[in-house]
Amino acid sequence: MRGFLYGIVFTIVVLLAGGFFYLKKGYMNTQADIPPGAIERKLAMGAVDASTERHAPEAKNPIAATEQNLAEGARLYLNHCAGCHGIPSNRESQFGKSFNPPVPQFFSDAPDMPENENFYITKHGIRFSGMPAWGTTLNETQIWMLVTFLSNVDKLPPSALKELEPTGTAPAAPAAPAAR
Ligand code: HEC
Repeated sequence: MRGFLYGIVFTIVVLLAGGFFYLKKGYMNTQADIPPGAIERKLAMGAVDASTERHAPEAKNPIAATEQNLAEGARLYLNHCAGCHGIPSNRESQFGKSFNPPVPQFFSDAPDMPENENFYITKHGIRFSGMPAWGTTLNETQIWMLVTFLSNVDKLPPSALKELEPTGTAPAAPAAPAAR
């Protein structure tokens, strides 16, 4: 019995040491242009979903989907999000594809999470992914404007769609956030 327990402890120590060595000595590839393996993808994405569900506080969106609010949301989106998440005239942002996992393209695949979760993700970001924490540059009202915009991204009125047409060249990368 004692030998068996020592065996278990020994195996755990070897696995931990192996994992530590693998990470510490740089065997893990951290390039963004190499897709993560199936196990990492499944574990990491499941962990993000579960963490968001657990941590996003229940909250009611205070911003109604009026034409004016959607146009305001569209302006915020064009300035801060469009470079990564796409616009109607550029549904599949090339820049968004330079991330791994690739940035969700909201004009091809509208976000379908509950609004409190979209608020939580927009405010706090997603570590290790490229999704910034916007709570440091946008206030809560602006973030709710964006959440309302995202909930209506597949049924925007013409006035909001007009805001999404960039003047001049399309943003290749997100513009620097405006001061609060
Ligand atoms: C620098 C690129 C970048 C910018 C700019 C950016 N995002 Fe993201 N966003 C990401 C990435 C990458 C993910 C996916 C992370 C993942 O798969 O875990 C993401 C995911 C999201 C999600 C979760 C979507 C889902 O279905 O899981 C929401 C909501 C979101 N972003 C909203 C926004 C909003 C709103 C803005 C602008 C205020 C914004 N993002 C700006 C890169 C960006």
